[in-house]
Amino acid sequence: MAGSDTFRAAAAYDRAVGRYGPSLAAGLIAFSGVEPGMRALDVGCGTGLLTAALAERLGAENVAGAEPSEPFAEAARARVPGAEVVVAPAEDLPFADRAFDAALSQLVLNFMRDAESGVRALARVTRPGGVVASCVWDYAGEMTLLRAFWDAAREVEPERGAAADEGVVMRWCSEGELRALWAGAGLREIRTGPLTARASYDGFDDLWEPFPSGIAPSGAFTAALDEEGRAALRDAFRRRLGVGEEPFELTARACAVSGVVPG
Ligand SMILES: C[S@@+](CC[C@H](N)C(=O)[O-])C[C@H]1O[C@@H](n2cnc3c(N)ncnc32)[C@H](O)[C@@H]1O
Repeated sequence: MAGSDTFRAAAAYDRAVGRYGPSLAAGLIAFSGVEPGMRALDVGCGTGLLTAALAERLGAENVAGAEPSEPFAEAARARVPGAEVVVAPAEDLPFADRAFDAALSQLVLNFMRDAESGVRALARVTRPGGVVASCVWDYAGEMTLLRAFWDAAREVEPERGAAADEGVVMRWCSEGELRALWAGAGLREIRTGPLTARASYDGFDDLWEPFPSGIAPSGAFTAALDEEGRAALRDAFRRRLGVGEEPFELTARACAVSGVVPG
């Protein structure tokens, strides 16, 4: 990807779902009990939103990131100077066994090719007694932005919208599924619970702007529509959110899971 495209992809992510990242990261860090003095890994770190929150708490030198997309890894390195960010998927982490006190991953499990193997790798690089934690959006329920988006998509393109609806196609979104995934990786003291993140918008145009850029499944769906389809989607989306050009805030719920590596 050329330099300016790299910048555009990372900027579009940060303006879309990434807008919830810092608020969600604060919740995930508190949920998983990450404390100063620990060394932590952020898996699927994207543009580095959780990495930055971890670095603020632990110091960048005690934080590493892994991300399979080179442009996103580059954005994470720029966001968190001093943190080691490698280009790698969760399933193939280039870190030694027991290298970290905590391995976290935010909004990534449902994008992994093989989540079972990914979570086993997170557990492998975490020391006995250390924590492995993650969170996934409640796509079918209270991730307000994406729920309203897919409801609008199903309204304007019923068949294609239903086939792409993340509330239907995404795995690892419920407490039961996450508990089973963590237990399957041999983790103990498993806890699950909701996290609520927030994002502020100047108005609906501010919210809509990153969608046609094609980032994430919602962006890809938008980008594939013709001009008329995009206009219909935009209108339905705005109506379902019930917002206009005045500033507003949305909340988004995720389901979190954490577990301890047995000693
Ligand atoms: C929704 S983004 C979340 C990014 C970041 N964690 C955040 O909270 O902003 C999903 C990320 O998962 C990454 N990803 C996809 N497959 C992955 C895999 N197998 N292992 C690790 N990360 C993966 C994507 O490249 C993308 O950066």
